[in-house]
Amino acid sequence: MKLFDTHAHLDDSSFDADCEAVIEKIRLSGVSYVMEIGSDVKSSETAVKIANAHDFIYCAAGIHPESADTAVQKDFDRIRELALNEPKVKAIGEIGIDYHYDDCAPREKQIACLEAQLDIARELDLPVIIHDRESKGDTLRVLKEKNVTNGVMHCFSGSAETAEILVKMGFMISFTGVITFKNARRAIEAIKVIPLERLMIETDSPYMTPEPHRGKRNDSSYVRYVAEKMAEIKGISLEELCEITYNNGKRFFNI
Ligand code: NI
Repeated sequence: MKLFDTHAHLDDSSFDADCEAVIEKIRLSGVSYVMEIGSDVKSSETAVKIANAHDFIYCAAGIHPESADTAVQKDFDRIRELALNEPKVKAIGEIGIDYHYDDCAPREKQIACLEAQLDIARELDLPVIIHDRESKGDTLRVLKEKNVTNGVMHCFSGSAETAEILVKMGFMISFTGVITFKNARRAIEAIKVIPLERLMIETDSPYMTPEPHRGKRNDSSYVRYVAEKMAEIKGISLEELCEITYNNGKRFFNI
């Protein structure tokens, strides 16, 4: 089966004790590719190291909105340098806006951090991985102002209407194990309106663990539960869904 986990955080501290063992477990589970996602400069540097050590792992470099408060020009320069010089960096991400937590960076700071990195992606002709939490209005406005078309909205939690707007903008839309939860009605409605060639699957591990493992640490081997649920929603076979989302991921990340 062709499985592509397009969003994982193997650099997360919850993998510190057994990262190599987890990567071996993922490989043995039959996952074909993993996209390892940076969330600040240090984590992006670790992401490159992990990708360089494993054929089937690629990575993205970027500064997450939670780290936007302390981001300065030399940090953006470092992200650009990694993206320019490291062949396994296939995207800028994850970047975006997050209004969920009050202790996140101030709104203007988050927006400036996103804009700076959208400019790097444009200059280097790389796709972007967008994080949007309770910030739909500002996120869509900035993406439209910057005329971004080569992006994925990751861990999508919006409505079918928002999904349709993103599809019109040219975006890919990616879903996590959240779609396996009992209260996932909204995500299911969104998946129904998204064309198959715009869908991707991800774990966002170690977070967002799908059923039946909810509550435990997530890893890329569980991406198959996301695939199973998405195949059921789309009314196609698991093999077909895996093949399509695998090809979508390869095309989007230029692998
Ligand atoms: Ni993430």
